[in-house]
Amino acid sequence: MEASAPAKVILFGEHAVVYGEPAIAVAINLRTYVRIKKSDEYRINGYPMRNKYHSYIKNAIELCWDGEPLDIQTKSEVPSASGMGSSASITVAILTAILGMRDEIDEERIAKLGFEVEYRTQGSASPIDTSTVTHGKGILVHKEKRGNFLWKVERGGLRWYIHHIEVPSLKLVVGFSGIRGSTKDMVDKVRRFYNWNSFARDVIRDIGKVTMEAVKALEDEDYARIGELMNEDNKLLTILGVNHPMLKRMINAALKHSYGAKLTGAGGGGSIVALTDEQDEVAKAIEEVGGKAYKVEISKDGFKIENHF
Ligand code: PMV
Repeated sequence: MEASAPAKVILFGEHAVVYGEPAIAVAINLRTYVRIKKSDEYRINGYPMRNKYHSYIKNAIELCWDGEPLDIQTKSEVPSASGMGSSASITVAILTAILGMRDEIDEERIAKLGFEVEYRTQGSASPIDTSTVTHGKGILVHKEKRGNFLWKVERGGLRWYIHHIEVPSLKLVVGFSGIRGSTKDMVDKVRRFYNWNSFARDVIRDIGKVTMEAVKALEDEDYARIGELMNEDNKLLTILGVNHPMLKRMINAALKHSYGAKLTGAGGGGSIVALTDEQDEVAKAIEEVGGKAYKVEISKDGFKIENHF
């Protein structure tokens, strides 16, 4: 059985989503492919499965497979630890292949199992990554149920309502700093700021407001406004302390040819995302300051049964 899942970028609301504010993410056209077949021992890309290197795959198997050992092959276009959701992408691809083998494919089930795998492996997670790479297209996470509701995820007293959101075709460039930021360290850093400073709590709420304005701008296909709001979100994230000199360099380089640009994901390293009509120029500008550029577009496809290998 072969399956795949896309990568994602968070367009608005990272960090604030941890405190119940809304967030918007889109699936992008970089994918992870997997092939699984029954075997006499667990192997991944020809090597025995090891907890240390294959924790997402192992947790996915533990959650939904108790048959014979599996031989798993993976191919990924998604750079790891870049903020593009490589772990969610491999997790959802594996879950799709396993459920596909049992003829039990179900979008909500895959998204919820995906969240469970990330949660178990990382110790904490919001469902934004796994829901986005399962569904494809665009996702709005909100603390209340709205139109285009897909499913609800609850954990540790928190509740996230996941919605489909219509997004126009967006030409994006992701700039990877090559610095592998730790999501957990960044989330902890913002939490400390949030707990002792009411100003930080205001900033988190302002990010939520920017995100809801972005919902409208996306509906209106108002690229200039979407870009402005990305810049605004980036300022607020910088105040929260999750920016990084390399991200700032890439953002400044990208802005010359973009509607807007911001860090995406946890920050402290990782990636930026720029919205542009001139992907080649932006990619070149990012590479000139030392980043690795990926010209990407929105992927309509989330999880998928494939015939790739
Ligand atoms: O590092 P990423 O791309 O998985 O994004 C993390 C987003 C946060 O809002 C910082 C944390 C979360 O779990 O939502």
